[in-house]
Amino acid sequence: MEIHTNIPLKNFTTMKIGGNARFMTDVYSKEEVAEICQNAKSKSLPIFILGGGSNVIATDKGFNGIIVRMRISGFSVINDSLNSTTIKLGGGENWDAIVKRTVDMNLSGIEAMSAIPGTAGASPVQNVGAYGQEIADTLQSLEAYDTKIDKFITMQNSDCGFSYRDSIFRGEAMGRYIITSITIKLSKNQPQPPFYDALQKYLDDNNIKIFTSKIIRNSIIEIRKNKLPDPKILPNTGSFFKNAIIESWQLNDLKKINPDIPTYDMGNGHYKIPTGWLIEQIGLKGKVLHGMRVHDKNALVLINESAKSYKDLADARDEIIGKIRDTFRIQIQQEPLEI
Ligand code: EPU
Repeated sequence: MEIHTNIPLKNFTTMKIGGNARFMTDVYSKEEVAEICQNAKSKSLPIFILGGGSNVIATDKGFNGIIVRMRISGFSVINDSLNSTTIKLGGGENWDAIVKRTVDMNLSGIEAMSAIPGTAGASPVQNVGAYGQEIADTLQSLEAYDTKIDKFITMQNSDCGFSYRDSIFRGEAMGRYIITSITIKLSKNQPQPPFYDALQKYLDDNNIKIFTSKIIRNSIIEIRKNKLPDPKILPNTGSFFKNAIIESWQLNDLKKINPDIPTYDMGNGHYKIPTGWLIEQIGLKGKVLHGMRVHDKNALVLINESAKSYKDLADARDEIIGKIRDTFRIQIQQEPLEI
């Protein structure tokens, strides 16, 4: 295992910002994961696992520890029944390549999560989701190295504490587990309506009436192309903010002033409000703040146009958060993890 020193994190994160990592290494097997974790523990160095770097923001001070790039591969069918196929995936597999492969096998369950950058192992951390599907819907279990007890463990879906864009891996257990594989169960049935609004609109507009996972995948790729900038061309991390979750009394207050506010009923008296809409209402869509552009096609996305440092990004973010708080009395949250 080769260990590199003083590596600029801006070259390994799609926002293209951040200081140096003291150490960086690639791991290709479970044995290497165990070895690097034990090594780091003996030297009291923190570890951070990086997948594709598409949902991580690095600060200017960099990371005074070891960045481990997850490269474990693997795609194996472990169960095949009349209705479903269960597949075990190496944590380092490219997410979209997996979606394509499962769609080519005529399976459904992750086709709406097409064209999302990143790796399989990172997908449970933020409970990746798009267009009506999230990884929590198909994930059966995962394998992880538990750095607390220095052992590999298996966790079931219910152990992961999944909720909207959240899991224990970015909450109470942050830094504890290194996900080396995930196991997902996909359906042999074709996708069925009702579909997510934006997807249904695309299907209607294009007069699509037959739904296969391949048709859904191709539709999603087209929708995303128009809404989300390609991080290889314009540095960004997809949605920069989570959508806001508010209670009914807050919604009632907001509706008095903004009767058109779009809402999604999450049950239990909670409502999801699109943060992109909130940002648009305060007039920031398409605007540049501290070198960060609020994307003109989707205000939830911040593009690093000319930001010099994490500080510029943080200033832009805090200005947006502050204006939303002052205008709507809603506290919005950053979506990508920060190291
Ligand atoms: N909206 C606006 N203005 C905007 C952006 C959105 O008014 O500038 C409104 C839309 O009109 C719509 C609502 O907000 O009524 C929701 O918009 P959209 O369906 O585009 O989804 P989103 O809330 O902006 C979320 C995910 C995306 C995912 C899409 C589709 C989060 C944080 N983001 O975005 O995920 O692709 O739904 O399912 O939940 C990501 O996490 O990086 C990501 C791209």
